[in-house]
Amino acid sequence: MGMKILMVCLGNICRSPLAEGILRSKLENQNVFIDSAGTGGYHIGNPPDIRSINIAQNHGIDISSQKCRQFKIKDFEDFDLIYAMDYANYNNLINKAPGLKEQSKVRLLLEELDGPVMEVPDPYYGGKDGFEEVYSLIDMACERIRIKLNSTDKS
Ligand code: 4NP
Repeated sequence: MGMKILMVCLGNICRSPLAEGILRSKLENQNVFIDSAGTGGYHIGNPPDIRSINIAQNHGIDISSQKCRQFKIKDFEDFDLIYAMDYANYNNLINKAPGLKEQSKVRLLLEELDGPVMEVPDPYYGGKDGFEEVYSLIDMACERIRIKLNSTDKS
C-alpha cells in the first residue's frame, strides 16, 4: 500500500487545495494518495477560492474540481503524513491528536525547506500577489517531498 499524505490549512479553499494539486502533479503515476482538508468548517462542499484555481491554472494545474472538507479525527488513522500550512493549524492538529503516534504524523509543510520561513501565509484577506508567494512556497516544499519520496523508492 502506498503512502497517504494530507495537506491541511484553515479553510481548505486557498492553501491546502494548492498543496494537494501541486504535489499530485509532481507524483503522477506514483502510488501516493494525496488529499486536503481544513481545520475550520466555513466552506464545506465548496470549490477552492477562484484565486487559487487561477494561479494553479497559470501553472498548468487544474484544482477546480476539488471540494472543501473539514479535517476529522479519523484522518490521523487514514494518513501517514499530515502537513500543516502554518503554526495555528499545526497546533490545532497536535492538540486534536489522540496520542503520540498520531502527533508524530503532523509536520509543518515548510519544514521541508530547511529555511527560515516556516509558515505559508494565509492569503485569504490579501490580494492576488499573496497567492504568488503562497504558490511558490508550496511548490518548493512539494518539490522537496517529491525528491525525498523518489530517493526512498528503490523500485
Ligand atoms: P486557507 O485560507 O486556510 O488557505 O483556505 C482561508 C480561507 C478562508 C478563511 C480563512 C483562511 N475563512 O476564514 O473563511
